[in-house]
Amino acid sequence: MKRTFEVEPWNVVTHTFKNDSENKRLQESMTSLGNGYMGMRGFFEEDYSGDTLPGIYLGGVWFPDKTRVGWWKNGYPEYFGKVVNAVNFIKMNFMINGAKLDLATDQISDFELNLDMKQSLLTRSFVVTKGDAKVSFTFERFLSVAQQELSVQRVTVKNVGSTDAKITVDSAIDADVSNEDANYDERFWEVLNTSQSDDSGYVISKTKENPFGTPRFTVGMEMRHHTDFETAKTSQPSEKEVVNEFTADLKAGETRQIEKRVIVVTSRDYDTDNELTSAMTKLSDQVSGSSYDDLFGAHAKVWADRWEKSDVQIDGDNESQQGIRFNLFELFSTYYGEDARLNIGPKGFTGEKYGGATYWDTEAFAVPVYLGITDPEVTRNLLMYRYKQLDGAYHNAKQQGLDGALFPMVTFDGIECHNEWEITFEEIHRNGDIAFAIFNYTRYTGDTSYVLNEGAKVLTEISRFWADRVHFSERNQKYMIHGVTGPDEYENNVDNNWYTNILAQWTLKYTLEILDQVSPKRAEDLAVSDDEKKKWQDIVDWMYLPYDKDLNIFVQHDGFLDKDIQPVSSLSEEKDLPLNQKWSWDKILRSPYIKQGDVLQGIWDFIDDFTPEQKKANFDFYEPLTVHESSLSASIHSVLAADLHYEDKAVELYERTARLDLDNYNNDTVDGLHVTAMTGGWIAVVQGFAGMRVNDDKLHFAPFLPKKWDRYSFRQVFRDRVIEVNVDKSGASFKLIDGEPITIDVDGKDVELTK
Ligand code: BGC
Repeated sequence: MKRTFEVEPWNVVTHTFKNDSENKRLQESMTSLGNGYMGMRGFFEEDYSGDTLPGIYLGGVWFPDKTRVGWWKNGYPEYFGKVVNAVNFIKMNFMINGAKLDLATDQISDFELNLDMKQSLLTRSFVVTKGDAKVSFTFERFLSVAQQELSVQRVTVKNVGSTDAKITVDSAIDADVSNEDANYDERFWEVLNTSQSDDSGYVISKTKENPFGTPRFTVGMEMRHHTDFETAKTSQPSEKEVVNEFTADLKAGETRQIEKRVIVVTSRDYDTDNELTSAMTKLSDQVSGSSYDDLFGAHAKVWADRWEKSDVQIDGDNESQQGIRFNLFELFSTYYGEDARLNIGPKGFTGEKYGGATYWDTEAFAVPVYLGITDPEVTRNLLMYRYKQLDGAYHNAKQQGLDGALFPMVTFDGIECHNEWEITFEEIHRNGDIAFAIFNYTRYTGDTSYVLNEGAKVLTEISRFWADRVHFSERNQKYMIHGVTGPDEYENNVDNNWYTNILAQWTLKYTLEILDQVSPKRAEDLAVSDDEKKKWQDIVDWMYLPYDKDLNIFVQHDGFLDKDIQPVSSLSEEKDLPLNQKWSWDKILRSPYIKQGDVLQGIWDFIDDFTPEQKKANFDFYEPLTVHESSLSASIHSVLAADLHYEDKAVELYERTARLDLDNYNNDTVDGLHVTAMTGGWIAVVQGFAGMRVNDDKLHFAPFLPKKWDRYSFRQVFRDRVIEVNVDKSGASFKLIDGEPITIDVDGKDVELTK
């Protein structure tokens, strides 16, 4: 655990600039901004000669990077899709009396770096002393949520010294960028066209040709400036970069300002390069007429609406408050459901690991949150995203010689592009998680239109996959699934992972129920034969689910109980943890340590189907073996701990999930934020502390207040209603904010809510 920012309810702020690689990258990750359409790490506008990871990413703009593995295995995906580190459009270099500003070497004071989460504004200010000159800089930037193609920067420069200072600004769009994690150090952009005038310029670039036939993307970026600096000249240092230069002679005490507005358009929205170029110019013209305050005001208003709908307020514990706001802020910065073609990458726009692609994280962890805080349409879009990728899922199943559809572990277009065999081929529980999300959407919203149509198709094809992937063990007279990786990636190639088996069984059962309800026309299209249905029912009836009678626990997989089982508390914090950074991979695999919920992930999914004794026995056995080295782990364990009234554990795990990145719990936030795990704070508060469940068409709560807190409140969307839940020392209260009267269940009793 390592804290680099101060604790403030609405801000991620620090007054210390740490000029070393680890801290610099941590600061960049934690000050990332995004607006769903594009996003960026909090790297500096100006060049920084120390270690930095400049990263700007555009939603859905990716490149198929040829697979790189030591030893090729049949069935490996040919490429790993990667969101492309975009052309750098925020670049602005400053010269003070001819010497370049560089925070790696300059002498600075009064440093402040502040991410204002309420308004989504990043500011950085400091005073630099260079020779005789002393100059203060304030950088501001935001990515507009009111106009998603728009990025706005403003820099205020003040001469705070006693002598004159000549300030020069080189403001650029630079296409000479690369992905740090490119497999072959390739650059993914080629420049098609550039143009510039004195105070504006544009670059049109296109992702390089690739041998895999995936789409190429054209991106246009146009910058315009508003300033009281003088325009000095325009230059093009290389064919990949356009630069506008501005100068000002600042007398002592004088201030100047420069504003840079950039419009970013992509071929995802325009059919031809001509249409794209004219849209870019038209949008630039439109925003030119508005003042900074107008543009910022429109942006801040949208954020204010979002917060009104979804803020979780916590009184009495600022660390917890800051944590959950940071979670929701970064989650919404990545995805707010505006573009049904997009999804939620595990690192969002904050880093390159995981390639910005779609993982099972979306269905398992993000869907429950979006169902609770946004319109059902948002989740429906996420479900449609998978439906539209069925062709890719057929391809993946075929690669493994199997029927039906295998949704990918990692993808942009439905085709699997993860290239570690134990995940690509084996982590197939994802197929069940995608089916489960359909069930979740349907039970939360009461809307059956998806499950009876597109959903029925997805479920059928997933079921066909499961029916082919299981085998019948004559010896045991049971269906089994061998050679899998469960959610706990610290075990590979195991047999009968309980979680995978139960999800496969559940999917087949649910699909059979749905097939009974679809229209005759839909049934005809699905063409599930009676023999198929019989086989599916047989698998449901005879699926093997490892269970240990003495311990009364579900067994993670066949060999698990033969391990040397010692709790995590027997390990040394210093020598052993985190395991993935201290131990060799084989040692991890043979150990009993669990990366993230596996059996407990299943118990969370089906939380109301188990008895309190079963939940307790499994939690008490597995949680002490869990290292929570996946960011996705702590939240669901917090819910289960709360369900079992283990309040201290629930709170400890809440803090771990809500402040995972702010406190760098897993020592890997330098790579970027764990955006899909940013769902964790909400899951822990709402499902854990407030005990929210949806069953039998009804919303249930069983709230308690953590001892350290004075109060918490949140809003929950449920079937055209918005309900506000407030829990304080005197108890819980519920208010209907929007929609028709509704009866909810609180601690087992009906409560009528009217406006
Ligand atoms: C986890 C996976 C997850 C991936 C992306 C891994 O560390 O084990 O469950 O899908 O990260 O978040």
